Amino acid sequence: MNIELKNKEQEFFAIVTDFDIKNLQDADFIKIKEAIEKYGVIVLKNQNINDDDQIKFSEKFGALEKALEHDRLKGIRSEITRISNVDENNNLLALDSEKVIYDRGNRSWHSDSSYKDIPSKFSILSSREIPNEGGGTEYIDARYALETWNKNNHKYSLNDLKDIICEHSIVYSRMVNTGDIFDNAYKEKMPFVKQRLIRTHPYTKRSAFYVGSHCSHVVGWDIEKGRKLIKDINDWIIKSGEIIHHQWNNNEIVIWDNRRVLHRGTYFDESSARRIMHRTTVAGDFPSYKEPVIL
Ligand SMILES: [Fe+2]
Repeated sequence: MNIELKNKEQEFFAIVTDFDIKNLQDADFIKIKEAIEKYGVIVLKNQNINDDDQIKFSEKFGALEKALEHDRLKGIRSEITRISNVDENNNLLALDSEKVIYDRGNRSWHSDSSYKDIPSKFSILSSREIPNEGGGTEYIDARYALETWNKNNHKYSLNDLKDIICEHSIVYSRMVNTGDIFDNAYKEKMPFVKQRLIRTHPYTKRSAFYVGSHCSHVVGWDIEKGRKLIKDINDWIIKSGEIIHHQWNNNEIVIWDNRRVLHRGTYFDESSARRIMHRTTVAGDFPSYKEPVIL
């Protein structure tokens, strides 16, 4: 196994080669898990897998989330979140179909499942069919943003922000990014959940901002004042560190740590290009507001 680190200053984003998840030795699994915790995002090259292979590998990291209803496809396992403009009959979906519009919401910076009471740890995304152009995924380091926060002139110090709780919602983020696409029954099933604004990673003990597009407002603050703070932090995350663009090849897996990293999908021509991505998502253990914060 060979691990190449892309951004040394941030210790961010690594590429792993000479390794096959279908013949996984315990020692290799430990190296992979350590690489994700150290570098936030890892790309595993040349992994020709099916859903069963992906689920079996992913379960080694912990229990998996079930896909949300808009991310399911008839005939595939419930652990698979399908991000795709191709339907169950292998046809392209219409540009105005609910799923295509819903998936466009992924083009805003976000952390997967931050709208769940117990947010996810890792996302494990595999490319099954990719467009010739576009359709990449971009990553940015919310830990580096926190660690460089004090070097710049911000209104609030990290100590001021340490104990802030925000509320996140996918209904809110999709409303902002794609319009009002959910029915009332779905909205009732997906209420706001509370998350810490700053989370400390349980293994590295280093902290990161936990925001992204699902983060709506600050508990106990005026809504607009809270949204201004969240926008300032989101802007700083993008400005402070390197945005790493991953252009997919076939048969790749990217794993990232949602507690440290924000990501977004990028544009592709949905009217003619097919894109099929399958994600498994490793569930967290606790609501983030129960985690201790170390600054
Ligand atoms: Fe995502």
